[in-house]
Amino acid sequence: MTDADQRGSIFETGGVFANRELLRVGHVPELDRIVGRDEEVASIGQALGPATVGAPPENTIVYGKTGTGKSLVTRCVAREAHKEARTNDVTFQYAYVDCSDYQTETKASREMARQLATHVDADRDIPRVGIAAADYRDITWDLLDEFAVDSLVVVLDEIDKLDDDELLRSISRARESGKSETHVGAICISNKIEYRERLNERIDSSLQDNELVFDPYDADQLRAILDNRTDAFEDGVLEPDVIPKVAALAAKEHGDARKAIDTLYEAGRLAEKQGTGTVTVEHVDDAVTQAEVNRFEKLVSGTTPHVKHILHALALLTADNPDQAAFRTHRIYTLYETLVKQQGSDPLSEDRVYRLLKEQSFLGITESNHTGGGQGEGSYLEHRLLRDPEIVVEALDMSESN
Ligand SMILES: Nc1ncnc2c1ncn2[C@@H]1O[C@H](COP(=O)(O)OP(=O)(O)OP(=O)(O)O)[C@@H](O)[C@H]1O
Ligand SMILES: [Mg+2]
Repeated sequence: MTDADQRGSIFETGGVFANRELLRVGHVPELDRIVGRDEEVASIGQALGPATVGAPPENTIVYGKTGTGKSLVTRCVAREAHKEARTNDVTFQYAYVDCSDYQTETKASREMARQLATHVDADRDIPRVGIAAADYRDITWDLLDEFAVDSLVVVLDEIDKLDDDELLRSISRARESGKSETHVGAICISNKIEYRERLNERIDSSLQDNELVFDPYDADQLRAILDNRTDAFEDGVLEPDVIPKVAALAAKEHGDARKAIDTLYEAGRLAEKQGTGTVTVEHVDDAVTQAEVNRFEKLVSGTTPHVKHILHALALLTADNPDQAAFRTHRIYTLYETLVKQQGSDPLSEDRVYRLLKEQSFLGITESNHTGGGQGEGSYLEHRLLRDPEIVVEALDMSESN
């Protein structure tokens, strides 16, 4: 046996996942993997239906919180409409533009033109720069006529990120303005309900044929969504209480399917890393903690080492004194001083630390309150950590070692 055999493959995959792609962000599953959105699928189907037989599609605006399936359902139904149209001998094309990637009118218009050119197999270069948004739109209308496209649906996802309404306006007027013979429609998607008012004021009513709201998922729906992806794992790897647990946690938080799928994936990755062979609820708990640690680390990543030492001191005090919630500046300062000296650095003054602690309350990490001392004592300031101290300590250790 060689050393390499004994060591095993350096690409050991741990036998946990059979098809991890099913749990990855950006994966657009088939329509039959969509669970609990029958009405929404039907509504978008109804809006796009006419376009599959050569009639104008209806414009639709889709609202709903993050992770409620807006992008998924829209993309899947558009893909189905494309197939359906083909069986009817109708040319239906769609362009999916994620406006968070293409935030300016020019970039979004270019992306629309570029996708259409690819879909119709046009042998035509779409210039990257140097031409205006209106020129990209003209290229689009030209392509539609050149390739005799019967209908085009443009999905503008995260439309609230787009800097201007002109693209949307020209889509709604492409035919009536004589720019194209094709029926052109739009599906706009946003997770900002506030955007509704703004959009209503700025665009004409023809764009508001349909308005669709996606509600957050409940625990049962999340469970069904996750159950439908268990083939991401090898047989028998998932313990039976894992999915109910992930679903319950996600339902309690925001009914966000993306978060639920992410948690399940991260739990699987932890099991894989530990080589345990099964995914358990402990892996789920650890995955949730890890996600919180990562979020906290990101939050404090822009602060100075001194702020991190101050938070570290407060977190250690909080963890070591379960009966006490808040600590005086001086006590935090003493521990902070020790931590800084251990690192071989010079501590800041106590007054400066006091002010930094007050600032952290703006980040929602700590809270500072005046407390009246006993008789003969003046009032003093006490600071309380608003996060789980263990998570804070872990995140700060992690950011230190980075
Ligand atoms: N009904 C469902 N069935 C199966 N998977 C779903 C369902 N709804 C959402 N998902 C999955 O959850 C994730 C998030 O869904 P999606 O991207 O559609 O959310 P969204 O509403 O567009 O959120 P955002 O507003 O953040 O863009 C995706 O990975 C998607 O595949
Ligand atoms: Mg989306």
